[in-house]
Amino acid sequence: MPTAGNRKAGATPFYAHIVGWGMAVPETVMTNDDLATFVDTNDDWIRSRTGIRERHIASERESTATLGLKAAQAALECADILPIELDLVIVATSTPENIFPSTASLIQDRLGATRAGAFDLSAACSGFVYGVNMASQAIRTGSIQTALVIGAETMSRVMNWQDRNTCVLFGDGAGAVVLRAGEDEGGVLSAVLRSDGGGADLLGIPTIGSVDTLGMLDNGHTMHKMHMNGSEVFKFATRVIGESILQAVDLAGITMNELRLIVPHQANERIIQAAARHLKIDPTLFVTNLDRYGNTSAASIPIALCEAVQTGRVKMGEHLAFVGFGGGLTWASMIVKWSAPQSVDQTLLKRQRRQFSYTLARWRAALRRISRRINDFFGALNPARRRLARLRRKIDAIDTI
Ligand code: UT7
Repeated sequence: MPTAGNRKAGATPFYAHIVGWGMAVPETVMTNDDLATFVDTNDDWIRSRTGIRERHIASERESTATLGLKAAQAALECADILPIELDLVIVATSTPENIFPSTASLIQDRLGATRAGAFDLSAACSGFVYGVNMASQAIRTGSIQTALVIGAETMSRVMNWQDRNTCVLFGDGAGAVVLRAGEDEGGVLSAVLRSDGGGADLLGIPTIGSVDTLGMLDNGHTMHKMHMNGSEVFKFATRVIGESILQAVDLAGITMNELRLIVPHQANERIIQAAARHLKIDPTLFVTNLDRYGNTSAASIPIALCEAVQTGRVKMGEHLAFVGFGGGLTWASMIVKWSAPQSVDQTLLKRQRRQFSYTLARWRAALRRISRRINDFFGALNPARRRLARLRRKIDAIDTI
């Protein structure tokens, strides 16, 4: 693995290529009519104002980590790489499992990615583009070689289901990409990341650490529930999409005519149409799937990207843009020269080794739990505890499967 320290001056630069992608959504679908049974809304309003028809909602057994894990496994499958090859796992999310440990650490463990660093990234609906840029910069400097970037959300858990201004808009899901160093020109070409904290009050989820917890603010916000000033966010979104795409295109050294596809954050069909008008481009250049998933925040871009690739809308050598916008306020655009082949010839051996890695990760976690319990019960000198510790060390040592 190359490291920043061992790169020679003038060495061939690395590019960060997207080599795998995957997505996961919960099975349960909630239609607009379902929503209308418990909140004052209707299918006609939701469709005409947003374009959304239905969204997927996590079951009690699903969470940001379980959805993120499934998307990650699909992306590793697609790239045909082993968890052990990952150097970094980033999860962009506004609905993490915990404040800490990070959802990224949970997924890293469940994959058996024992040589990877892991952290969560908070940039709301722009988070995935931020994450891909962080990973691609680490690859381009030579400090890492392979990264997994996941956008995962269970927005249903932070909805106020009585607030029709927000609860009709969001859904749950996850998408992931694998980025890998390569010497061929392509992959992530440019990125524009921006923030305006002056708009912090327009969109947010107050949580522990907030002054709101002390009852200091009389702003009507509810702890751990989303609030949004929809019309202000709408105006902000339509302005920044066009602006930041033009900046990213310029930085990449290409022209708008060379863009074959734009994968935007899926918030509202009308926002996408307004952005197309602003850029004076055909709206069909934008990928939209929000009719089926609603707004899945940081997961929306990787989910839309996955579907675009799977339906043949992304071709080798073509330029595409990702654009995200949301709480912070934050926004981000990125230009990617698609360099992944349509399909990878997966090796049976690697597939089996991946499955083994997931099983081993489960065993490792189970053993850790059991040995902690035995430790608590019998104290530090018990022979059973020592035997378990030895077994755990042996399993931990199996990292070259
Ligand atoms: O991912 C983060 C980024 N988020 C976004 O980009 C969201 C941006 N904002 C939006 O997409 C839109 O502003 C919304 C979809 C949230 C709202 O659409 P709008 O066209 O801006 O509607 P509005 O908020 O101006 O409300 C219009 C009317 C109001 O009634 P009155 O005051 O005109 O009588 C609302 O009370 O629609 C009413 N309304 C609803 N009616 C039925 C608001 N929500 C609903 C609803 N069902 N769910």
